[in-house]
Amino acid sequence: MNFEERIVSREATEEDPLEEQNLRPRRLSRYIGQSQLKKNLKIAIQAAKGRGEPLDHLLFHGFPGLGKTTLAYIIANEMEANIKVTSGPVIERAGDLAAILTSLQEGDLLFIDEIHRLNHVVEEILYPAMEDFQLDLVIGQGPGARVVKMGLSRFTLVGATTRTGLLTPPLRDRFGIILRLDFYSPEDLVAIVKRSASVLGINIDDAGAMEIGHRSRGTPRVANRLLKRVRDFAEVKAEGHISSAVAREALEMLAVDHLGLDEMDRKILLTIIDRFQGGPLGIDTLATAVCEEKNTLEDVYEPFLIQSGFLLRTPRGRMATIAAYEHFGRKIDKIADPNGPGQNNLFR
Ligand SMILES: Nc1ncnc2c1ncn2[C@@H]1O[C@H](COP(=O)(O)OP(=O)(O)O)[C@@H](O)[C@H]1O
Ligand SMILES: [Mg+2]
Repeated sequence: MNFEERIVSREATEEDPLEEQNLRPRRLSRYIGQSQLKKNLKIAIQAAKGRGEPLDHLLFHGFPGLGKTTLAYIIANEMEANIKVTSGPVIERAGDLAAILTSLQEGDLLFIDEIHRLNHVVEEILYPAMEDFQLDLVIGQGPGARVVKMGLSRFTLVGATTRTGLLTPPLRDRFGIILRLDFYSPEDLVAIVKRSASVLGINIDDAGAMEIGHRSRGTPRVANRLLKRVRDFAEVKAEGHISSAVAREALEMLAVDHLGLDEMDRKILLTIIDRFQGGPLGIDTLATAVCEEKNTLEDVYEPFLIQSGFLLRTPRGRMATIAAYEHFGRKIDKIADPNGPGQNNLFR
């Protein structure tokens, strides 16, 4: 058992894919939370089915682990359609995408994960394909080159991205439906923990599920991962039963605190508080100070810290909030000079 790796990470890790597939709800009615999104999706699916047409191209955006891939598979099930799955960085050349597109049949779903990472030559192939179900193939090179147009079957493109801002406007505009996934409420996460426990045959009581759900940082993937680690602990120490005491002990051992913060979150916040007087400080400085990449900070760590009210993104840089000071029991008067260059607005 590796307690070293970051178990609250929202990115899928290597052990996950197979089990993740088993844990995915296959029907929209079984998909927990995201009620507004589900309503919209349900209507779109019903309308398309009623007309006997493929669904409009659809884009999901939301942080990792919130359920975008799950939704793509659910749509295929609900539409009774075949699904082909690929991802932005995998499609290297225009020809790769052309091969995929020409293999699609009427009504098929093409799921492109991390669609913001398509390179622009490939992306341009998508425009006429999405708009007119047409492939523009360039034959030859230089002055002798010519464009051959080829018809495609009417398919549905489902794209997933962590941020719509990363998509080029022409690509974004070609999606008929754009849906955003939010962080989940603790209640939803408790329900997800219970559901996953029953799928995996894990013995857990309500209080145990609460303990895990509340520390899952709004993210189903984290909930499932914590559940599995706690199960390991329970099997060794508590005959496999997860009560709240067992869950708490296991999570303490995993260094996940009662709000779901882990070592790295603590390092980030304490660096800002103890070394930079609470901020503001630039993201580059912060990245260097905690030895992490800027992008990882922005996509993986910061959203949860901001969402839970511990961190502020201001035009002048990152700042720790009063809640962060209180969480770590740091005295607010520890700030060197409230009116000095490292001043923290909050405390003036
Ligand atoms: N609404 C949900 N209800 C139940 N389980 C969910 C839900 N959303 C996500 N999950 C679970 O969380 C895990 C990660 O979901 P996934 O769709 O792979 O996220 P994403 O593609 O956004 O990174 C999956 O194992 C899935 O079972
Ligand atoms: Mg995914």
